[in-house]
Amino acid sequence: MGTSRTVVIAGGGSGIGKAVAMACGSAGFAVALLGRTQASLEASCRALDDCGSRSFFVVADLSKEKEVEDAFGAIDGFAGRIDILVNSTGVFAYQPIPDISLETWDRVISSTLTAPFLCAREAFKRMRRQRAGRIINIGSTSAKRVRPDAAAYSAAKHGIWGLTQAIALEGRAHNINCTCINPGRVTVERCHLADCDEPAMSVDEFAEVVLGICQLPDHVNMLEATILHQGQPFVGRG
Ligand SMILES: NC(=O)c1ccc[n+]([C@@H]2O[C@H](COP(=O)([O-])OP(=O)(O)OC[C@H]3O[C@@H](n4cnc5c(N)ncnc54)[C@H](OP(=O)(O)O)[C@@H]3O)[C@@H](O)[C@H]2O)c1
Repeated sequence: MGTSRTVVIAGGGSGIGKAVAMACGSAGFAVALLGRTQASLEASCRALDDCGSRSFFVVADLSKEKEVEDAFGAIDGFAGRIDILVNSTGVFAYQPIPDISLETWDRVISSTLTAPFLCAREAFKRMRRQRAGRIINIGSTSAKRVRPDAAAYSAAKHGIWGLTQAIALEGRAHNINCTCINPGRVTVERCHLADCDEPAMSVDEFAEVVLGICQLPDHVNMLEATILHQGQPFVGRG
């Protein structure tokens, strides 16, 4: 399954996005990566080449409308169609509410909510023409249980769940599926919660779950999922 299908990964140069790219590449998908940092995107593509996958990258700030439109135009030339979009962009700011500047708020919202919207909009246009497609938004358990000092991030992730439902609803007539998958802590290079000692999943364990969603039959949607280390405090009161 997956041979000659194309997955686009927004935020594919590091962390969860890179691990999903490797899992999808190994499963036979062609992979297009988007992000702001050329060196990390190149490294992801080299790793994909090494495992025999067809890959491509575009450097773009995905919170900027024109850059997103141009990036998806470039992907059209690479693949001709987009079967799956994985939205894995996001930034975290760890501050109590009185200290959050408008600049910080806008920076978090633009990369964590606006970028996924802009990428989903471009993917949706193409998937509507194809009459098929799947959009997977990486949400967070922060959309279920907020942490202190994470107001902008929590607000953005609640927005991801709303965006997911809107895409699933409007996509229904066009055979477009949409998932919000909420990870608990996942160990990545860039540590989001430096002083947090809660157990974490490995990034490859989480990526395997995302690959499973990518491989669902077209008529099956996983609307929402929460995936976390068995020992992470989440259910109940701690
Ligand atoms: N790791 C966890 O424990 C955890 C838990 C819950 C949810 N998540 C979510 O999982 C997703 C991936 O996070 P991660 O942990 O893998 O961290 P990460 O390595 O920092 O991944 C985020 C990616 O998004 C890209 N990005 C951010 N803003 C961008 C923008 N404006 N335009 C283009 N690319 C942008 C970053 O690349 P550049 O900086 O090069 O652009 C980076 O590759 C995020 O949505 C995060 O909120 C992570």
